[in-house]
Amino acid sequence: MKDVMILTGAGQIGMAIARRMGYGMKIIVGDKKIENAQTIAKIMNDAGFDVEPVEMDLSSRESIRNLITEAKKYGEISMLVNAAGVSPSQAPIEAILKVDLYGTAVLLEEVGKVIKEGGVGVTISSQSGWRMPALTAEEDELLAVTPAEELLKLPLLQPDHIRDTLHAYQMAKRCNEKRVMAEAVKWGRRGARINDIAPGIIVTPLAVDEFNGPRGDFYKNMFASCPAGRPGTADEVANVAELLMSNKGAFITGATFLIDGGATSSYFYGPLKPAE
Ligand SMILES: NC(=O)c1ccc[n+]([C@@H]2O[C@H](COP(=O)([O-])OP(=O)(O)OC[C@H]3O[C@@H](n4cnc5c(N)ncnc54)[C@H](O)[C@@H]3O)[C@@H](O)[C@H]2O)c1
Repeated sequence: MKDVMILTGAGQIGMAIARRMGYGMKIIVGDKKIENAQTIAKIMNDAGFDVEPVEMDLSSRESIRNLITEAKKYGEISMLVNAAGVSPSQAPIEAILKVDLYGTAVLLEEVGKVIKEGGVGVTISSQSGWRMPALTAEEDELLAVTPAEELLKLPLLQPDHIRDTLHAYQMAKRCNEKRVMAEAVKWGRRGARINDIAPGIIVTPLAVDEFNGPRGDFYKNMFASCPAGRPGTADEVANVAELLMSNKGAFITGATFLIDGGATSSYFYGPLKPAE
């Protein structure tokens, strides 16, 4: 038996973190598009990793449980990397909320029930959630602790409150941050830690879809006008994951780390600030 890593989302960010942290482990990679999971499994297995692709849907509790059952066949689950998601240009409002918001909440809850003592997890939110004005303390708490099955019924997530797909994505990512805080308390009872990484623009197929989507100019300007002056790479996100998932991060749990080349800083206090 080996220690097992569950990776959801066979994209560039997920693979970069799995490559950094998963050597010597059994890595179960779940993706709605099995061909994406197979592609990454092949690349990694050819490089000496031990990866098993599984078809799964983050928006389904049953599918998440099946993935966990599959993972447990190989050993105890000691790492979770959640890098599955859909972006504002890829999916309608309902799908964004179901996958990015509800699905992430369920995954953190279900893995939190079985994570090995001393285990660690990261989930990927987004800088996008940092641009939205603060919610009320009551709304934050609702996003943090409402039972997952009730989340999508919250008034603040109803169609009359969600303006467009970008707003849905921002709410989902804000919710991810709050869920991670609430789950860190539960994971802590098992001696386990869970954190969140909020990336800015990272060059991946998801970001390339955004560059070519209706907000393409907005995104290109965003990285050109941020302090770093460029988009980031998945390997740079893995640098943060390595800190959070290794013993160097032993005192870090329930936290969200922004890695965006300073785009959020520029949005509030620099050239990316929206015109009044
Ligand atoms: N790339 C960026 O610039 C960027 C910036 C901020 C946040 N993020 C976040 O990082 C995460 C990973 O993004 P990426 O850029 O690596 O994207 P990607 O498109 O390369 O990978 C995402 C993967 O998730 C899978 N997926 C989509 N819906 C799913 C579902 N319902 N169940 C299971 N798998 C599903 C896709 O098939 C895809 O393989 C996402 O949550 C995204 O919101 C990305």
